[in-house]
Amino acid sequence: MADLVLITGATGQVGSALVRRLTARGVPVRCLVRDPRRLGPERVRVQIALGDLADPPSFRNAMRGVGTVVHLAASARDQPNGSIEELNAIATWRMVDAAERAGVERFLFFSALGATTHHRTRLRRSKALAERVVAESGLAATVFAPSMLYADGGRWTTVHRRLALLPAVPMTGLGRARFQPLWAEDAADCVVAVLDAADPPARVELAGPQTLTHAEMVRLAVAGRPVVPVPPPVARTALRAAEAALAAAAPVTWDEAELLEVSTVTERGSADVEALGVRPRTMAEVLGAARGRAAAR
Ligand SMILES: NC(=O)c1ccc[n+]([C@@H]2O[C@H](COP(=O)([O-])OP(=O)(O)OC[C@H]3O[C@@H](n4cnc5c(N)ncnc54)[C@H](OP(=O)(O)O)[C@@H]3O)[C@@H](O)[C@H]2O)c1
Repeated sequence: MADLVLITGATGQVGSALVRRLTARGVPVRCLVRDPRRLGPERVRVQIALGDLADPPSFRNAMRGVGTVVHLAASARDQPNGSIEELNAIATWRMVDAAERAGVERFLFFSALGATTHHRTRLRRSKALAERVVAESGLAATVFAPSMLYADGGRWTTVHRRLALLPAVPMTGLGRARFQPLWAEDAADCVVAVLDAADPPARVELAGPQTLTHAEMVRLAVAGRPVVPVPPPVARTALRAAEAALAAAAPVTWDEAELLEVSTVTERGSADVEALGVRPRTMAEVLGAARGRAAAR
């Protein structure tokens, strides 16, 4: 694994964990980023290509001399310069096209578990289209299909840490949908294992060791604070009003909240993760350890 690896989404939950692993091993890494400062201390250890999913011409420069692309960048909300469909489906199509033209050999793509073109949510519909583009390309591809990914400091845990300061924590929906949450650090270990594999799998379902309802995950994230379900029609109206008022500063959008309304589980559980030699941790272990570290500071 000594060829140049281009990572999109390098500032995200999985991307930041992956960059740390690859630079520690001396692998040459280039990151396609909107704002290099968000790479933190790693920004001095990687090549930087300024780019944006909403600006496909920026992909061409980023691909120069690259052997492998790990395409993690995505958006579960509309942005000023692109809709969810443009940032996920069309951008992936343009990313694959740029990779083929640049002579890239391998393309690792993060889709989403259960993505179909008739899924209830816009993100999963657009990921289904993107998956199809990747599968039909001439590139040696691996598609990762995560259930739910989380990290200490990620958006989901941060929002809940703030909500836990309230006397009762509002939860969008009734919290019955089921997930198999996987720690972003474990997901990054899976990517490294695929990069190292002599015969890499075409598809990896990224699911953690436990099946939890949305309500159970929220209870873990807010450490036992009382949780109040907000029925979906009320949540949808409130979140849409907040989006209209706050635009990009809205802490959560309805499109994001709706993702937690639909069960996203695989019968295979964490089998694919373990087949890559990764022992995934439970959410209780990971969030409990993070709380312990915070209390010790
Ligand atoms: N998190 C989950 O539960 C989950 C579930 C299923 C699938 N997935 C997929 O797994 C992958 C990794 O997820 P994650 O949780 O690590 O993602 P994340 O933390 O939400 O990070 C998203 C990344 O995409 C970048 N990005 C967003 N809009 C961009 C744009 N317009 N141009 C360029 N970069 C842009 C962000 O960069 P900035 O720093 O500039 O914002 C960030 O680096 C994603 O493809 C996601 O869709 C995630």
